Amino acid sequence: MFLRLEPGVCGAMTAFEPPQIASVVQLAEPLFLVQGVSVYMLRLEQTDTVLSGNKPFKLFPNLEMARLTGHTTVLSFGGAWSNHIHALAEAGRRFGFKTIGVIRGDDGMPLTQTLTFAQNCGMTLLRVSREDYRRRHTSELIDSLRHNHGDFYLIPEGGANLLGVAGCRKLAPLIQRSLEGRHVDDVVLACGTGTTLAGLVSGLHQSMGSAMPHVRGIAVLKGAGFLKTDIKIWLERLDTPYVADSWTLETDYHWGGYGRCPPALMQFMRDFECKHGIALDPVYTAKMVSAVFQRIEQGLVEPGKQILLIHTGGLQGR
Ligand SMILES: Cc1ncc(COP(=O)(O)O)c(C=O)c1O
Repeated sequence: MFLRLEPGVCGAMTAFEPPQIASVVQLAEPLFLVQGVSVYMLRLEQTDTVLSGNKPFKLFPNLEMARLTGHTTVLSFGGAWSNHIHALAEAGRRFGFKTIGVIRGDDGMPLTQTLTFAQNCGMTLLRVSREDYRRRHTSELIDSLRHNHGDFYLIPEGGANLLGVAGCRKLAPLIQRSLEGRHVDDVVLACGTGTTLAGLVSGLHQSMGSAMPHVRGIAVLKGAGFLKTDIKIWLERLDTPYVADSWTLETDYHWGGYGRCPPALMQFMRDFECKHGIALDPVYTAKMVSAVFQRIEQGLVEPGKQILLIHTGGLQGR
């Protein structure tokens, strides 16, 4: 049942075991010195050549469940540049699952690099209209997919289900191990569906109780306030007791909405990459890092604070 994976950057991984440790670097910036804050980055994007960032945490428990329930095919949904589809295709190739990606819109357009990669991994791509894609939660669409393609294990768009959240709890011990005893006050990460944040809050609460750092999610979607309810529901379902003030979702740093990358954000990303030698992606991590810079500039971070940014990957989509 346990297969061996190809070695990743941080060494060999066994099947369905996400990375245990990642490197942490301190970011040196005049702004941070002036404001008296220390900022570190957890380099999850370096943990594997393809299955890096938050992806193994969300996908592996789902793949384990697929295997336990006797499924040989896994189906999921995503856009033409989806990090989730990219990672699922690679996971299918490594672990011996057939994969089907239901792709939003752009039928008739040439394949993006993401979709070309997925297809080369053996993923069957079903490009559907935006109208059909909107019906992805309906039993009607799922039944017709089963009718046409046989049975499959279904992973929702973005890996956003309870198993995905539960898998992200493993980020907590990884962070503690990687920090090697260093204290942090705030952990900051980009949020699309809130799955990763919910799992991280639950995991940190499990291991540290009320001594856990504050978790701050930077929503990359416009109007993402609704995610707070999703996150609360997931935390309840994982029996994570309410810890006052343990997490916040910031909804003002989306730069116009999901997938939007105005020139100023692009410039920020380039400058950051030049200065620190760390590549960011425009959809998630650049927004998260620039939000932290803005908050420090605006004096919203108290002097003396130690902040850990999580680099959740996504570089394939650049
Ligand atoms: C690179 C990257 N960072 C952050 C996220 C946000 O994760 P979540 O949807 O769990 O909030 C995603 C989406 O999975 C992602 O691809």
